[in-house]
Amino acid sequence: MAHNYSYQTALAASERIGWKVKDLIGGDKKLDFSKPFMPESLAQVKQLSFLTPEEQLTLNQIRGHEYLSMFGLVEEFILPYVVDHARPQLSGDDYRVRALLQFAGEEAKHIHLFKRFKQEFEEGFGSKCEFIGPAEDVKRFVLSHSPLGAGIAILHIEWITLRHYLEGVRESQDLDGQFKSLLKNHWLEESQHTKLDTLMVEEIVARSTAKEIDQAFQEYGEIGAFIDQGIQQQAEFDVESFAQASGRNLSKSEREQVKEAVLKGMRWTYLGTGMTHPNFLATVEAIKPEAKQQIEAMAPAFC
Ligand SMILES: [Fe+2]
Ligand SMILES: [Fe+2]
Repeated sequence: MAHNYSYQTALAASERIGWKVKDLIGGDKKLDFSKPFMPESLAQVKQLSFLTPEEQLTLNQIRGHEYLSMFGLVEEFILPYVVDHARPQLSGDDYRVRALLQFAGEEAKHIHLFKRFKQEFEEGFGSKCEFIGPAEDVKRFVLSHSPLGAGIAILHIEWITLRHYLEGVRESQDLDGQFKSLLKNHWLEESQHTKLDTLMVEEIVARSTAKEIDQAFQEYGEIGAFIDQGIQQQAEFDVESFAQASGRNLSKSEREQVKEAVLKGMRWTYLGTGMTHPNFLATVEAIKPEAKQQIEAMAPAFC
């Protein structure tokens, strides 16, 4: 396939990066609640012109809390997936074994990182934000699919984190420094995960039948629909958290507009950015060209 990814170079890059959770949050590294947490390309709150700038900021930060929670949730199933993939072959290719274990170790660290940020958020925000779950149920659902189906969904997730940073955060001047550093440092390590996940998916494809590949793309669609259901529920929670935090009495139509904006922002953040990612689509196309066309046909609903 048209890439030059290898376990050896991914491992070397990962070893050069290697940050710690305490480098990013805790002590004097605090969230600044006078600043937005999410880039506007993902938050999409400024179109709500009937909200004051302070209210837009509150909604942006609620989307930040949701982002921390959502990644905490998905990394809970990525970690066991990677461990399960590594486990049957722990000898032979030393670079492969070490790169995969490093991948798993980084995801465990990211789970911890997102939790620590959430804790800081909860201490500083002053109002409770609800989030869907529990993570155990989501993990059980995703891992009940074939390794290839779950692997393609995870590849989608790895690629979106790169896009979030490169297209929204890198050039942004006004974001909270700690949140920006979280997105940057996550991006640095996820950059290796995209490559490792591509290699893992290719390994599984090499031993799969055409029927198994068809099934895997159907499962990718099922996992996407499951995430979209969660997104619809979470959009309700975000609106409720906003009403509570801002104290604003929204009219029925204003509430609908806030919900529409949040839903659209979430669909783009978690689904559209992956379904239109050129590198994700290149891997899909190499596996099954019609699957790429199907994903492209469905993507506009999430963009
Ligand atoms: Fe991660
Ligand atoms: Fe990752």
